[in-house]
Formats: sequence, C-alpha cells, structure tokens
Amino acid sequence: MMVCEYKPGLEGIPAAQSSISYVDGQKGLLEYRGIRIEELAEKSTFLETAYLLIWGVLPSKEELETFEHEVRYHRRIKYRIRDMMKCFPESGHPMDALQASAAALGLFYSLRDLHNPVYIRDSVVRLIATIPTMVAAFQLMRKGNDPVRPRDDLDYSANFLYMLDEQEPDPLAARIFDICLILHVEHTMNASTFSARVTASTLTDPYAVVASAVGTLGGPLHGGANEEVIQMLEEIGSVENVRPYIENCLERKSRIMGFGHRVYKVKDPRATILQKLAEQLFEKFGYDKNYDIAQEMERVVEEKLASKGIYPNVDFYSGLVYKKMGIPTDLFTPIFAIARVAGWLAHWKEQLAENRIFRPTQVYNGLHEVTYTPIDQR
Ligand code: SDX
Repeated sequence: MMVCEYKPGLEGIPAAQSSISYVDGQKGLLEYRGIRIEELAEKSTFLETAYLLIWGVLPSKEELETFEHEVRYHRRIKYRIRDMMKCFPESGHPMDALQASAAALGLFYSLRDLHNPVYIRDSVVRLIATIPTMVAAFQLMRKGNDPVRPRDDLDYSANFLYMLDEQEPDPLAARIFDICLILHVEHTMNASTFSARVTASTLTDPYAVVASAVGTLGGPLHGGANEEVIQMLEEIGSVENVRPYIENCLERKSRIMGFGHRVYKVKDPRATILQKLAEQLFEKFGYDKNYDIAQEMERVVEEKLASKGIYPNVDFYSGLVYKKMGIPTDLFTPIFAIARVAGWLAHWKEQLAENRIFRPTQVYNGLHEVTYTPIDQR
C-alpha cells in the first residue's frame, strides 16, 4: 500500500469526494451545489438553501412549502430536554448546552434506520427545526426565565430572534439574519464537517453526528472565532490602538482572530457580504464604532500579512451584525451551528450514499521493544 507523506492537519489532503459545495481559495469563490453564494444570499432563504444542499436541487414551490411546513411544526423540543437544560449551570457555554441537547435528542429516536429515506428526512427536519429552539431555550433559562414556545406564524429566522427575547424582530433584521444563516451553512471539508463525516462513517445516528460536529465547531480556531473577534475589538477600543495591537500580536506570534484561512488566500467572500449587511443595519439602527476599528484592522493586517495570504474570514464581520441585533456574544457560535447543521446533514447523507469508515494511518515515531520496568526500579 502506497504510504503518502504525513501532512499536519491533513492540509491539502482530500478526505472525501463531494458535490455539495466548492471553494476557490485564490479567487475567493464559494458555490453551493454550483450556485454562487452571492446569488443565494440575494435571492434565496436559509430553508431553501438547506433543501438545495441536502437534496441536491432547488425545491419546487410545493416542495419548499412542504419542507417549511414540516420544519415549522417540529420546532418544539421535548419537555424532558427542557427539564434537562434547566439543570445546566447558567455559567456554562451555550455551545456545550447545544452539544448535550443535540445528543439527548437522539435518545427519543434511537431506532436507527439509515437506509430509510423517511427516517433520513425526519431526522433532517427534526434537527434543523429544533436546534434554534434549544439555543433560545438555554438563553432564556440561564437568565432564570421559562423558554417561550416557537411561533408558527413567524418564519425560521424571525421565530429564532423572537424566541431569544419574546420580541417580534424588525423585518430587516430578520432578513439579514436569514442571509447570515445562508452564508454560514456549508463550507466544504472544514473541521466540523470532517468531524461529521468521520462520525457518520461509523453508521451511528444523525444526532450523534451533529453533536460531534457541534463540539468541533466550538473551538476558537474554527467557529468560536466570531465570539473572540468582538472581544478583540472591544479590547482594542479605538482606531489608534489598532496598529500597536496588531504589531504586538505579530511579535508574540499569536493569531489575530477573524483573519486567515486554510483555503482562502484572499478576502473570504462571505466577509464581504457580511460587511454590507452590517452597514445596512448601521444605517437603520445606528452606528457601531467597532466597525471603524474593524476596518482599520483590515487595512493594517493587509499591509503586514497580505504576503502570507492573510485576509478577513467569515468570522471577522459576522459578530458586528449579530451585536447590532442585540444578540449576546456567546450565542454567535451557536448561531453558526444553527446554520451549519444543514451542511453537516448534507454531508451525512452523502457519506451514507457511498460509505467507507474513516480509518487513516499514521507515521509512527515512537519506540519499539521497550522492556517493562517494575515500579520499585523507576
Ligand atoms: C472558520 O475551514 C473552514 O472552511 C472554516 C470556516 C468554515 O466556514 O467552516 O471557514 C470557518 O473556521 C474560519 C476561521 C476562523 N478562525 C480564526 O479566525 C482564527 C484565526 N485564524 C487562524 O488561526 C488561522 O488562520 C486558521 C486556523 C484559520 C488557518 O490556519 P492555517 O491554515 O493552519 O495557517 P497556518 O497556521 O499554517 O499559518 C500560516 C502562516 C503562519 O505564519 P508562519 O508561521 O508561516 O510565519 O500564517 C500565519 C501563521 O502564523 N497566520 C496568522 C493567522 N493565520 C495564519 N497570523 C496571524 N493571525 C492569523 N489569524
């Protein structure tokens, strides 16, 4: 068997064949099932895009209405999951609450029937429908309040924003939030999607697949960066402090959150769209001085790191959008997960269609023939 050279982080090594999405990191191009994200962001909705990714085609009007109806009427979570969440510490991170709740959902649907299209569709609908409710429920419960019931008269994004604070959201904010979900739904073989595929390849249930991916997404080098970006902008505090802050990061060889990408060596196209969405919100709801700081960061980082292909990624501007919507910072990554569940489920289906359990090899650099030393001689 040919042994390839070891590549840390499997950099540049294809882990799967996939037709779900495509990234050109040099051109800054992202397509979902061949459609550019700029077009989907302008013309589609999150649920329509989720359908496209999972079933491979844009739905007809009837197919979309049926899917939307099914998701709408599966938004409520089991009272036992709500009771379980009431035992979570208020200080716990919402990503940990989400991972536990997603795994718990599997307890109610333990009969795995992975070859049954009805089981697959039901699992897809349940997970896409309930993840936002779980995130919103933890948010209210950690403040000592009862969670609110989903509102069937509101669409997917408006309902999530409503469940966060029992206020019906501004239509512009709801539409912009829905576009944010489109921008975050899928991104080829990122760490959490790879995690989802590895878990799926063992033929476990989709709830375990999603719980595994949620755990992976939470790290600050992946989905957790959006939360860190806002904290960084607040810490910098003024445009004048940007350059010294960046120079200090570079001296300490520490990573600047929201910049850099394993694939994009130009500005992440999602960051460009998110910037415009932020500007729309500022126009309607008032300016955020963090945007001046962010734009100065982009200028200084380009001056110093463009040669390494370090530019803003999806996490750099998303936090400014969510913050302007009044969303707590530690919910930014759970929102990333609300979107990405559809991408993970698309990969789950694709993995099952032509499955081979992941079992890579390693380059062993340890010892051999070592003699056991009795404890009284160590
Ligand atoms: C997401 O993979 C996906 O598609 C992910 C994602 C998705 O949609 O699923 O796009 C979402 O995770 C976006 C990334 C969010 N993470 C961050 O913003 C954290 C900060 N970024 C970095 O940690 C980093 O850029 C990574 C992890 C995102 C990518 O790192 P790589 O590809 O492993 O790059 P590397 O570590 O090999 O760095 C190459 C060089 C190094 O310099 P040298 O040692 O060669 O001199 O670039 C430097 C790094 O020091 N570098 C940075 C940097 N990122 C890379 N220097 C300063 N700040 C940074 N952010």
